Amino acid sequence: MALLIRNLSQIATPRGRGPVRGAAMRELAVYDGAVIVIDGGRFVYIGPERDKPAEIVIDDDVDAGGATAIPGFVDTHTHLPFAGFRESELNRRLRGESYEQIAASGGGIASTVHATRRASEEELTANVLARARTMSRYGTTTAEAKSGYGLNLDDELKQLRAIRSADSPVRLVATCLAAHDFPPERRGDAAYVDEIVERILPAVAEAKLAVFCDAFVERGVFTREQGERVLRAGAALGLVPRLHADELSDTDGAALAASLGAASADHLMHVSDRGIAALAASDTVANLLPGTSFFLMSDRYAPARKLIDAGAIVSLSTDCNPGSSMTESMPMVIQLATLQMKMTVEESLTAATLNGAYSLRLAGSIGSIEVGKRADLVLLSAPNYLHLVYHFGVNLVVAVFRDGKNLS
Ligand code: NIG
Ligand code: FE
Repeated sequence: MALLIRNLSQIATPRGRGPVRGAAMRELAVYDGAVIVIDGGRFVYIGPERDKPAEIVIDDDVDAGGATAIPGFVDTHTHLPFAGFRESELNRRLRGESYEQIAASGGGIASTVHATRRASEEELTANVLARARTMSRYGTTTAEAKSGYGLNLDDELKQLRAIRSADSPVRLVATCLAAHDFPPERRGDAAYVDEIVERILPAVAEAKLAVFCDAFVERGVFTREQGERVLRAGAALGLVPRLHADELSDTDGAALAASLGAASADHLMHVSDRGIAALAASDTVANLLPGTSFFLMSDRYAPARKLIDAGAIVSLSTDCNPGSSMTESMPMVIQLATLQMKMTVEESLTAATLNGAYSLRLAGSIGSIEVGKRADLVLLSAPNYLHLVYHFGVNLVVAVFRDGKNLS
């Protein structure tokens, strides 16, 4: 059942089955006046309609109405299964309180932990599904989703089961972030790290509820040593490490992530030159989350230009969470990456698709519009891909296909 998508103004995509670094992040394949053919959930032809091999028999076609096709976005850092909101923290920040001060006074992660523990698994599943549907409407076809608001065995497992149970339009990949913070009832209790290592991670691995594990190494949260212990224990159980690194202060998290062979080092607003060099020399993806700087009203963004120019693999994600970045929108993130972090539109598109796919260990099958890959694509109401940033603040997505299925 081959499907032909015709009347496309443009197709724009990075290329390859591995990560893209440095100047190569600016090299998109751009086709004007080409068609896309999908069969068996995969791309089988991209090019001028007249050159389509005769053996590809078309059963159905879609008129794209002059849209631009880009790969589905791959959002590799989200905290999807949470309950409750924290909108009241916004006015507190406007009055001058910092994210850390709000957390220290019982707001912040702790307040979401209480709400998430109170929620049933069914409620969390419904929350994941609702957010995944929003993501899909903004062009995301694959997303990572973390636990980390349970902070005990039962509630971490509940969050991860909610990710698994959601009948999501977005392909979801789960991460156990039991090391997101200390439980509110046992702040600073080092024995919680023992519990993560001895009970939570083994149970998660045993039930195959996550592919990755993650830790928040930060001033006042987990030390480097504790983060390393958690991630090494996870890795020994087959859970690939990721790391919240150098978000609010420089804790040498980037170098730690690189030394552990982590899939990604995320945030990096305070990464040092040493951390940048360590990432550039590694296969650990520098995952940048500019929605967090924007929403926390910080003028400090991750040094995207330095990271790209040094040769690090850079990706972009929403960090969708109720405290520091309440958005499911990858186009918004791309706009911030370009307009605030000075990434080119081409770099941003590569970061938001193929490099994200690489960090999820999926670059062989998703992340670009290429023959043989899964047919995950977005149609934008735009004459070319530059409109993704140029025409900001509106949703240009008119259709989303995942595994060749039209979700819109
Ligand atoms: O990625 N860094 C820690 N975790 C989240 C924030 C979580 C929250 O505020 O609830 C982040 O920014
Ligand atoms: Fe996060």
